[in-house]
Amino acid sequence: MSHASPPFTPLQRVLHWSMAIGIVAMLFIGVGMMSTIDRNYLLLVSIHKPLGIVILVLAVLRLIVRWRRGAPPLPASMPAPMKFAAKLSHWTFYALMIAMPLLGWAMLSAGAYPVVVAGMRLPSLVPASAKLHSLLWTAHSTLAFCLFALVLLHLAAALFHAWVRRDGVFEAMAPWPRAPR
Ligand code: HEM
Ligand code: HEM
Repeated sequence: MSHASPPFTPLQRVLHWSMAIGIVAMLFIGVGMMSTIDRNYLLLVSIHKPLGIVILVLAVLRLIVRWRRGAPPLPASMPAPMKFAAKLSHWTFYALMIAMPLLGWAMLSAGAYPVVVAGMRLPSLVPASAKLHSLLWTAHSTLAFCLFALVLLHLAAALFHAWVRRDGVFEAMAPWPRAPR
């Protein structure tokens, strides 16, 4: 059954879909970086670092927009545990969208590697330390796999709403405007 609550704003939808593309690209670029030692490694790193910082900035912007504009209510027909799981997964996404870039940046700071974005060298987040570098590397890798798993679950849930429940949840975030009824 379709619910008629207002959709996410166009800005929220543009941010959702551009960041979804950016984050999926980052996951594949990251794995690509770890799987090659030829000169493509440097190309992939030179995309991964600035794109990750752009995602950090967009995630902060998105949280501000979310705080000011809120989100459409979930349909009353949705069972409470499903609503809880949806909200938990969304806030986990926000946490990971902030944590992943910060961990990547801090990992490079701990390894004394520069993080340069648009010709500007960003400050070190933590002091240089081999032990901290290895800890942050493990955290960045482990959370990347958690993020990938969450993306797959979220995709499955979105398609379940669109094709099985048909309750308007997918349409609220769809990249195209809702058709007039
Ligand atoms: C949404 C943001 C990010 C995502 C989803 C992401 C994802 C990943 C993934 C999947 C890997 C490969 C992990 C593995 O196979 O074990 C990786 C590695 C890496 N990431 Fe990120 N990353 C993000 C942000 C950043 C940022 C902002 C930086 C630095 C400024 C960064 C620096 C690195 C580095 C240097 C590696 C490779 C480490 C090595 O060669 O040992 N990442 N990232
Ligand atoms: C990396 C990929 C993605 C990320 C990080 C992501 C993140 C998010 C977040 C954080 C929200 C909650 C918005 C809020 O309440 O402020 C959301 C909602 C939503 N996303 Fe995604 N998303 C991704 C990919 C996708 C894909 C591929 C689809 C569909 C095929 C999708 C469909 C939806 C839908 C329908 C909602 C609205 C859910 C609701 O109203 O409760 N997302 N997404």
